[in-house]
Amino acid sequence: MTAIAIDGPAGAGKSTIARRAAKEIGYVYVDTGALYRAIGLFMLNQGVDTADGEAVCPLLKQAQVALTFQDGEQKVILCGKDVSKEIRTAEVSMAASNVSAIPQVREFLFDLQKKIARQNNVVMDGRDIGTVVLPNAQVKIFLTASPEERAKRRYEEMAAKGEKVDYNEVLKDLKIRDYNDSNRAVAPLIPAEDAVIIDTTGNTLEKSVEQLISVIRNGLEISENDKLMKRTPLYSFGKIFCQWLIQLFIPYQVNNNENMPQKGRVIICCNHVSISDPVRLAFTQRRQIYFMSKAELFENKPLGLLLRMLGAFPVQRGKGDKQAINKAKKLLNDEQVLGLFIEGTRSKDGNLLQPKAGAVMIAYNYHAPILPCCITAKDGGVPKIFHKCIISYGKLIQPEELGIVDGTGSEYRSACRLVMDKIAALREQDIKAFQNQ
Ligand code: C5P
Repeated sequence: MTAIAIDGPAGAGKSTIARRAAKEIGYVYVDTGALYRAIGLFMLNQGVDTADGEAVCPLLKQAQVALTFQDGEQKVILCGKDVSKEIRTAEVSMAASNVSAIPQVREFLFDLQKKIARQNNVVMDGRDIGTVVLPNAQVKIFLTASPEERAKRRYEEMAAKGEKVDYNEVLKDLKIRDYNDSNRAVAPLIPAEDAVIIDTTGNTLEKSVEQLISVIRNGLEISENDKLMKRTPLYSFGKIFCQWLIQLFIPYQVNNNENMPQKGRVIICCNHVSISDPVRLAFTQRRQIYFMSKAELFENKPLGLLLRMLGAFPVQRGKGDKQAINKAKKLLNDEQVLGLFIEGTRSKDGNLLQPKAGAVMIAYNYHAPILPCCITAKDGGVPKIFHKCIISYGKLIQPEELGIVDGTGSEYRSACRLVMDKIAALREQDIKAFQNQ
């Protein structure tokens, strides 16, 4: 089963946004806050102080809480009665916040949440889903917004239902709940280390939903990729059996591939002249190269599958894609080979394009050497099917040689130029080699 964990503070719009996203991808939406609310309501009905653990714990056994799902809608059943509406008052919100700080209450609800995730593909929202309940969730998101914006949304929602509310009261309550949630001893509200943080301040609902779906889709692609990569023999198998096919359809000659270190982290920085570049490069090296490739390529299912088998993972270009950067960081920390197309896009005529800073930023931040590489077709154009191209590797550039000290924009730009100059020199040399053949 697949799980998407969405955590964040009260009023960040988690339920509305996550419900819409779940519907879009066909997953069951689970609002775990409703479970804490049900316990809060139960304790209020029993007339006990909801912040008093000693009073709450002995009564827990009597609180029968269950969630049911009808047409994707969640219903909260407390002792056989549907309380889905009753749990939405300000009084119950505060009671939920109080009981949620009691470890036994969290334990009591833990199994139920796990069980739902075992039986369904879920988008589960709460406070500790990515950190405690589903630490192995395929995608983790921390959804937040400024307290004022969250209070405004809550206020408008309650006012629309005809409830008499005061904005300042709503803001005050929300800040108290934020404080309680973030400072409790068990399962405090903090983003999981590998969560993508989405700040929805100033966003329309539509924009937030769109952003969430895009992060979920991208995350699912990456996790799908991880699953495939666990079957690494497929990579070696594919390489052995496809070698002749590659040499027949997209033949290549390789120069200086011994410049690739046989262990340790490395970033191959290559120019990009053809859709089949990752495939060609994969065949030049014994080590597996994990390519960061544009997300659009994965929309074509057969190509996406081939790319994944060859180690590629998707990146949403121009969006500072944190998931792709996390993936790159993880690979380099695992001492693997990362493949990047430094120009960020494919050249239409074979000429080199302006480099993007992503490659040198990753090299600098994760202390990885860069191996420049150039793919050149005859006359420096675009490689054609059945026509040979030359793939040349340059000398390894250590991260210290990039001249980045403070991580400023101008340092990154000159580091990019340095790498690009090496690629350009390889290209010149290979165009000449074609002329002399
Ligand atoms: O999300 P919602 O505002 O409905 O949650 C009600 C309360 O339940 C929160 O203030 C929080 O204290 C608690 N809660 C929690 N852990 C979760 C979900 C909710 O502690 N996973």
